[in-house]
Amino acid sequence: MRVPALPYEPIPDRRAALRLVAGSFAALAVPTTRAEQLSLERAKPPLFGSAVNPRLLESDPVYRAALRRHCRIVVPEGGLKWAGLRPTPDEFRFRYGDAIAAFAQQNGLIMRGHTLVWHMAMPEWTSALQSAREVQAAMTFHIENVVGRYAGRIASWDVVNEPLPEDPGPPSDRRDTVWHRHLGESYVALALRLAAAADPHAELVINEYDLEHSGERFDRKRAAMLDLVAKVRGAGAPLHAIGLQAHLRGERTIDRVALRKLILELRQMELQILVTELDVIDWALPFDIETRDRLVADRAEEFLETVFEACTPGAVLTWGLSDRHAWIPAHFKRRDGAPNRLLPLDDDYRPKPLMNVLRRFGATDRSD
Ligand code: G3I
Repeated sequence: MRVPALPYEPIPDRRAALRLVAGSFAALAVPTTRAEQLSLERAKPPLFGSAVNPRLLESDPVYRAALRRHCRIVVPEGGLKWAGLRPTPDEFRFRYGDAIAAFAQQNGLIMRGHTLVWHMAMPEWTSALQSAREVQAAMTFHIENVVGRYAGRIASWDVVNEPLPEDPGPPSDRRDTVWHRHLGESYVALALRLAAAADPHAELVINEYDLEHSGERFDRKRAAMLDLVAKVRGAGAPLHAIGLQAHLRGERTIDRVALRKLILELRQMELQILVTELDVIDWALPFDIETRDRLVADRAEEFLETVFEACTPGAVLTWGLSDRHAWIPAHFKRRDGAPNRLLPLDDDYRPKPLMNVLRRFGATDRSD
């Protein structure tokens, strides 16, 4: 049995009828015009889900039960990154990717893939890649093998992750990575083409952070994203969606006008919008738990309201479910030493106000 496909068709691909979510395979009429396609897609509820920690998936039954209960779509937090997959140039370790794919299949969940081309989580041997030819060969081998292995099981891939600099200058600015250094901007189109060749049915995504808040740095990031997308499209590369990571800062407002404008411009280019890594970083919020949880929920609500006013995203995934296992980089730790509370469930898997916000936008629990 295959893991269910996405409930919507990647927008630029007219090949088939829309498929329904997990379990139901009744075909809908094929939309004949772009407008029909967009309105059908808009009518569908988004999928809610979470990143999955593959080690916990293996070892912790409570964690597995929480994933089953709260998710209809999952993505590996780790396990499909180069560092874990490719200890040596010729070796692939698919243990964690396979475990998440099996879990998704057994539970009727849709699976996303994360990530094929990134500057982080790279194994040491890749620093010896010295020429365009070597870099292109390594990328080609990687994408053919990884996407090929999961063809039909991973419905949507973060093909290129975080291609923009922390603080872009002009819109043409790109992150300095091994890929960009040797191949220039064309690496993005190349990666997308390789992924499409390895699985012609997968949704192909560019995934990026810091596209939501108010401030000049965020304005520059939004401008750079639009510039990149226009160039990728200009090169004729297959690109279906933009992932808004949405690692929101609790202390910073959402720029509703600018975010809406960004989404509408991306939609004009017939791109799907996904929320791929939602959480609210609370390092600068007050200590008091009730206040903090409310501010976290309010920030997520402000963000989701803006997104949903502009479009219905294809999916909304949080970057983990419970604060017990939250990703907290060293620089976002709280100065008062209090544990961070950035996810929808608390340490004991009890829903927090953030979960109520997700429910308001359509997240539901599975009762079985
Ligand atoms: O697997 C090793 C383990 O063997 C070792 O004992 C341990 C000691 O540090 O490290 C373990 O690896 C860590 C891995 O997470 C698994 O827990 C790495 O050091 C650590 O760098 C890695 O961090 C992940 C990070 O991406 C880099 O891959 C985070 O969990 C993960 O949440 C984070 O996710 C990123 C997205 O991919 C992209 N967007 C931003 C997001 C948050 O930074």
